[in-house]
Amino acid sequence: MNKISIKKILKKKNKVPIVCLSTYSAAIAKTIDKYCDIILVGDSLGMVLYGMKSTREVKLETMIAHGKAVKNSTKNSLVVIDMPYRTYPNQSIALKNAKRIIKLTKCDGIKLEGGKKVTNIIKHLTRNNIPVMGHVGLLPQTALKFKVRGKKPLERKKILEDAVAVANSGVFATIIECVIEELAKNITKKIKIPTIGIGASKHCDGQILVVDDMLGISNFSPKFVKKYSNINKIIKKSVMSYANEVKLRKFPTLKNVYK
Ligand code: KIV
Repeated sequence: MNKISIKKILKKKNKVPIVCLSTYSAAIAKTIDKYCDIILVGDSLGMVLYGMKSTREVKLETMIAHGKAVKNSTKNSLVVIDMPYRTYPNQSIALKNAKRIIKLTKCDGIKLEGGKKVTNIIKHLTRNNIPVMGHVGLLPQTALKFKVRGKKPLERKKILEDAVAVANSGVFATIIECVIEELAKNITKKIKIPTIGIGASKHCDGQILVVDDMLGISNFSPKFVKKYSNINKIIKKSVMSYANEVKLRKFPTLKNVYK
């Protein structure tokens, strides 16, 4: 299998939709690798895996541990790891932490959230050969409310300017999260790098969802998450059968016993 490169991702803009998923474990990464262009190890793991209230509690070491697991289980996809909240407050700390993530996980790039405010950080990282993915629109690390962005003209203008600023700073692609369709369309037209939408319409150059959300493992179900499976239902049914069989001494059977 030919590994996807950043060059290949860039070439897909306006041509072939880019398939991305956010996941955190070796087993899932191995299964989805063949079908993805980019696998993001997102800091959404704080809420999805660890039951935290927000992504703000996620630590760098946690991202490194999950990043290693995912990277070691992929051959095809580009693996990008989220830099957690407050791990990129200035250029030197950001570079130190990004280098640590890349050195320990061997991932292909990092992602950080923000617009104009983080352009100096992006420039510093890319000048130091760290591939960076941007993230504009709804910014989970700093958002006070989970709600769609870009309904008001001023907010729309700011997000468009943020997207242009991060694109001009050297990111190879940017996530656009939870914005109105018209804004995602305008950003995608205006910037030269690929846009990856989550709740940002089909007009983006690619799409991303969190695996646990689209498989119905997590309970997170905003409008933009299409549930492709209901794994929780399957888990519940299977565990009910197991519990019942244990109580009735129907499990283990002869098939599961060593003689
Ligand atoms: O943390 C994450 O998984 C993300 C995606 C939802 C884009 O940032």
